[in-house]
Amino acid sequence: MNFHVLTLFPDMVQNGLNTSITGRAIEKGLISVNTVNIRDFSDDKHKRVDDYPYGGGAGMVMQAEPIYKAYGYLANHIKMSKDDQTAYKKPRVVYVTPQGEIFNQSMAQELAAEEDLILLCGHYEGIDERVLEMIVSDYVSIGDYVLTGGELPAMVMIDCISRLIPGVLNNETSSEFESLQDNLLEYPQYTRPEVFMGRKVPEVLLSGHHANIEAWRRQESIIRTYERRPDLLEQAELTEEEREFLTR
Ligand code: ADE
Repeated sequence: MNFHVLTLFPDMVQNGLNTSITGRAIEKGLISVNTVNIRDFSDDKHKRVDDYPYGGGAGMVMQAEPIYKAYGYLANHIKMSKDDQTAYKKPRVVYVTPQGEIFNQSMAQELAAEEDLILLCGHYEGIDERVLEMIVSDYVSIGDYVLTGGELPAMVMIDCISRLIPGVLNNETSSEFESLQDNLLEYPQYTRPEVFMGRKVPEVLLSGHHANIEAWRRQESIIRTYERRPDLLEQAELTEEEREFLTR
């Protein structure tokens, strides 16, 4: 999968993703992260990309033109990189903004099916609405809080989507069986030693009895979700017995 990031801070995105699991995925060619510096498309002699808002108010607004040009350059670059340019389909363009739909695991799953994904990062008080109308297909927020720019949210999305791509994680199954896929939090995990400062690993995990271990983990997941994220339980697929267990 190819990620393309329209940003004023390409180094931040590259440096952030060139490490650890995403870094290895890039090395293996499973994903690519291409950054386009919006500032390179400013015609201003000082390379300015922002200006005062019409109507007044605090802060600066990113201008439409450099973003539109950066996008045009990028879209053409993506098209030209395809073997069959006639079959080329316009990639989705995600504007990361606190005004978007909240990012979650199922959105990540859906986006992981795209071959190319463009992420547009804003700064200052926002972006001129006209260019958003022209190029953006999806508005996505990573949560109800405001960051200084869209780079971290874009990196969060790229990290989350990447780990769903086959081969990115060592353990092929680990991204399937975990937290949030089924609207349940993950069960508690333990590793050696068996006793740590007087705290013992739950007996069932040492039993080697797989069915009992599975049952215990399922129950712990449900309890944990109930305690920490009761809002998720409404969407979780629980058996009647499990629902009844929670009302006890
Ligand atoms: N830009 C600033 N804050 C953001 C957020 N919470 N999600 C996405 N983009 C943002």
